[in-house]
Amino acid sequence: MPETTFHPELGLAVQLFEPFSNLSPELRAGFSDPATPTPRFHDQSRGLRLYQGDALELLRRAKSETFDLIFADPPYFLSNGGMTCQNGQMVSVNKGDWDKAATFEEIHAFNLQWLRQCHRLLKPDGAIWISGTSHNIFSVGFALQTLGFKILNDIAWQKTNPPPHLACRYFTHAHETILWARKTPRSKHFFDYAGMKRDNADKQMQSVWKLPAPAKWEKRFGRHPTQKPEILLDRILRASSQPADLVLDPFCGSGTTGVVAARLGRRFVGFEIEDEFLTLAQKRLEEETMPPAQTQQIPGICNENVLGGGGVNGYFPWRFHCRPACCAVC
Ligand SMILES: C[S@@+](CC[C@H](N)C(=O)[O-])C[C@H]1O[C@@H](n2cnc3c(N)ncnc32)[C@H](O)[C@@H]1O
Repeated sequence: MPETTFHPELGLAVQLFEPFSNLSPELRAGFSDPATPTPRFHDQSRGLRLYQGDALELLRRAKSETFDLIFADPPYFLSNGGMTCQNGQMVSVNKGDWDKAATFEEIHAFNLQWLRQCHRLLKPDGAIWISGTSHNIFSVGFALQTLGFKILNDIAWQKTNPPPHLACRYFTHAHETILWARKTPRSKHFFDYAGMKRDNADKQMQSVWKLPAPAKWEKRFGRHPTQKPEILLDRILRASSQPADLVLDPFCGSGTTGVVAARLGRRFVGFEIEDEFLTLAQKRLEEETMPPAQTQQIPGICNENVLGGGGVNGYFPWRFHCRPACCAVC
């Protein structure tokens, strides 16, 4: 049975996965007629879904030209046993087995494989964002160009509080690169130019974004070693997608893309291989989609102070309400 989701408010039907028998021999390779994947989390009314599994397999099973936008924060392959500094303490740079350093050829073969499927899955006017560092981003850029995408921007996400460089032999790593590309040179990608300009005190938004790492409140359900800040995904999704668009994150980790997509009224599909991270993503999505009356006040921080400027990190979800004397500033 093909899995179909009907979005009642939006009137949109989405069949995400192809029946196995419909797949081309190339896409079938390596499978022995597996069942249609079932989502681990499914909010039918909002069109939000999380699947546990290997992104390479789930991408190959998904239906062509399904997604309006893809955001991918793939393994950077930087876990090489080195050390870094976190909150004044020496800690390992290792993120997990999924991020173990590999040869350039292995990294590039992996990037070509998942990006080829992303190209197939995007609608003709769709676009993709991929984050990375020097460990993987040049391979990602080369793969994008090899596969026929058109790169639109390379954004430098400048971190407000980067860890110091311990060996003192080169510059402190203070940014990540995020590539934005559309499916083909002729695709008509969506860009909310006016909205971005408005966000930037009525000046054109530039390609260097100075944004903080995730705040404590973003990790209240547990910690993901490479969690992205909600403020970053908020800018990306508002800049390049519209309400009801279908957004895919094939390496969704703790579900940051899904949480922000839900908040902005976009539909969302996330893939994640690790049970622990998918559980985290599920908890975050369940909370995000609760009726506001059931959400909790987080002690010590409030909406008004943050939105009024000079707050925790200049961004705070609308759903947490300021109450009298709820934080140090009130
Ligand atoms: C860089 S993290 C993404 C973090 C995410 N952006 C967030 O905000 O939490 C990459 C994630 O991809 C997952 N992953 C690695 N290889 C995978 C694969 N082949 N299929 C699915 N997920 C994978 C890892 O478990 C990890 O959670």
